[in-house]
Amino acid sequence: MSFKRKDLLGIEELRPEEIYFILNTAKSFRQILDRPIKKVPTLRGKTVANLFFEPSTRTRISFELAAKRLNADVVSFSSSTSSVVKGESLLDTVKNIMAMRVDCFILRHPTPGAPYILAKNLPVSVINAGDGSHEHPTQALLDLYTIREKRGEFKDLQVVIIGDIAHSRVARSDIWALNKLGAKVRVCGPPTLIPPQIEKMGVKVFYSVEEAIRGVDVVMMLRIQKERQNKCFFPSLREYREFFSLNEERLSLAKSGAMVMHPGPVNRGIELPVSLADGERSVILNQVTNGIAVRMAVLYLLLGRR
Ligand code: CP
Repeated sequence: MSFKRKDLLGIEELRPEEIYFILNTAKSFRQILDRPIKKVPTLRGKTVANLFFEPSTRTRISFELAAKRLNADVVSFSSSTSSVVKGESLLDTVKNIMAMRVDCFILRHPTPGAPYILAKNLPVSVINAGDGSHEHPTQALLDLYTIREKRGEFKDLQVVIIGDIAHSRVARSDIWALNKLGAKVRVCGPPTLIPPQIEKMGVKVFYSVEEAIRGVDVVMMLRIQKERQNKCFFPSLREYREFFSLNEERLSLAKSGAMVMHPGPVNRGIELPVSLADGERSVILNQVTNGIAVRMAVLYLLLGRR
């Protein structure tokens, strides 16, 4: 098949074969990252703009490195040091940057749907790097890549996502992605952090980690998203940790060899202890490395053949 999209906005609209096509393309780019010279000329002459209206370490640097590994030029924009602070709108900002002949916008924005507005109004490619609590498609793709690297297949794989499901764009994108490829997804967290009707996305809901984790192949821990919580969703961090953090005893209920994942940033000692974050089951840093290969694949598929 070929990938004919102009933009990558969400996993919800991707077909399973498109997801596999991105993952297979990423596999060939992944090898480049282990070479002494980590660069190919694929996107020479193209210009990519990183527009981040929210903080980011992994996604911003990963997209920047992915573009540079493909020989594209990269400009990085941070809202706090731009004319946005003088009142310029998102669309005006982007149209002005596009007038400088940019080929692709990578947008992280606190408003769900912001990348869709850009994509509708611009003739160039737009990639969603996280829009509010809605989607974070490249995070889901790198999670899939990391799972496939270790497990091979998704069919009937049992995955549990534990934590702040309500405010997590990662959870939403991962649920879409895993379900489309045949995995079985469970979510677990305090009732206040499980969105109503999430079962309609095809997941099983648990409120006890011990029950949720039993027999799973993959344990994905999520951060408490304090910046998106406008009220108190649980009595205290101490209580949250007691009931919902991962520990050795709880992990022993998963399948032997179950993988421990986290999209980052990790709050060590809250979602999981240091011993598990850095332990032999953890693939957290593999996720980060694979993120570059997946983002190289996405940039190549959107820009390389236009
Ligand atoms: N996983 C992720 O999106 O991390 P950043 O917020 O650091 O980009």
